[in-house]
Amino acid sequence: MKAYDTEIGTNIVKAAEILRSAGLVSVPTETVYGLAGNALLPAAVAEIFAVKARPAFDPLILHLADWSEHIHYVQEVSPLAHQLAESFMPGPLTLVLPKRPIISDLVTSGSPFVALRVPQHPLMRTLLAALDFPLAAPSANPFGYISPTNAHHVFAQLGGKIPYILDGGQSGIGLESTIVQVVDDQATVLRKGGLPIEAITELIGPVEVRTHGTSNPSAPGQLKSHYAPRIPLIIGELPALLAANEQRRVGVLSFRESYPQTENRVVEVLAPDGELTTAAQHLFAAMRRLDAQNLEVIFAEWLPEKGLGVAINDRLRRAQAK
Ligand code: TXA
Ligand code: MG
Repeated sequence: MKAYDTEIGTNIVKAAEILRSAGLVSVPTETVYGLAGNALLPAAVAEIFAVKARPAFDPLILHLADWSEHIHYVQEVSPLAHQLAESFMPGPLTLVLPKRPIISDLVTSGSPFVALRVPQHPLMRTLLAALDFPLAAPSANPFGYISPTNAHHVFAQLGGKIPYILDGGQSGIGLESTIVQVVDDQATVLRKGGLPIEAITELIGPVEVRTHGTSNPSAPGQLKSHYAPRIPLIIGELPALLAANEQRRVGVLSFRESYPQTENRVVEVLAPDGELTTAAQHLFAAMRRLDAQNLEVIFAEWLPEKGLGVAINDRLRRAQAK
């Protein structure tokens, strides 16, 4: 792999130039930061897998400037897929649809389906509009680790490996997109994410949720262990866990309650305001901060299982599975 003097900046022209010449750029989105390359250029796609140390069985999402571009990349779309796209794009929804041959097996890991997403972040939208190709972009973290929600998270892990990080500030949602596969009139949720399932069922009625793949997942966000910090994470009743572990150096990931910070204890409160959207925004950054401390274990608690709490609990569960 080539070594780079990685730059962080807001220069869209520069980002576009790098992408046009087959290079990779980390890009901001409203969900998490991505590691982007020209989706139609096998060399760029291969470089994404190399930089991320990502297994080849894990396919990439195609990012488009506008939903109307889908006609180039997927087969004729069902009314259900149109309805979802028109209601939630641009935004934190990814649709998995039957691909056209122009999309290589490298992007889809051999699947006849391709994942499409139209991000809402203004810098990313301007960048996509300036390009005449879609961007393949996984989250900009090493495989299995916590997704980045600001440019510094990306730099901490991919610094030296890519030329440029387009800095779009903090990701507003903070959780990866919700992935929905649509086959004819059947929608299946493959990953819980930044678009609450309730929003989807309100529009189209009950949907199947299949987010627990194992060895050959159709979405590795489905892997039992994913989005995981290096130190062990345990979920339970915080007061009891803390009382039973007073001698250990622990991290605390609490929803809204504060706990006294001690010499042995580092506390992160996700949402003092009790809002699930606030908790989602802070989750990954808080996990990273705790992971950077010299701790033995992180204690976390379940959030209310509704709205974005569903996706947050999913990430906690997978972090615990390590
Ligand atoms: O919010 C997001 O979706 C972010 C931003 C950067 O757009 N991207 C993201 O990408 O989370 P990644 O690669 O970290 O996770 C994408 C998930 C993977 O678990 C992958 O398996 C699934 O999407 N996926 C991609 N293509 C697929 C396909 N053809 N069929 C089923 N799942 C697919
Ligand atoms: Mg990822």
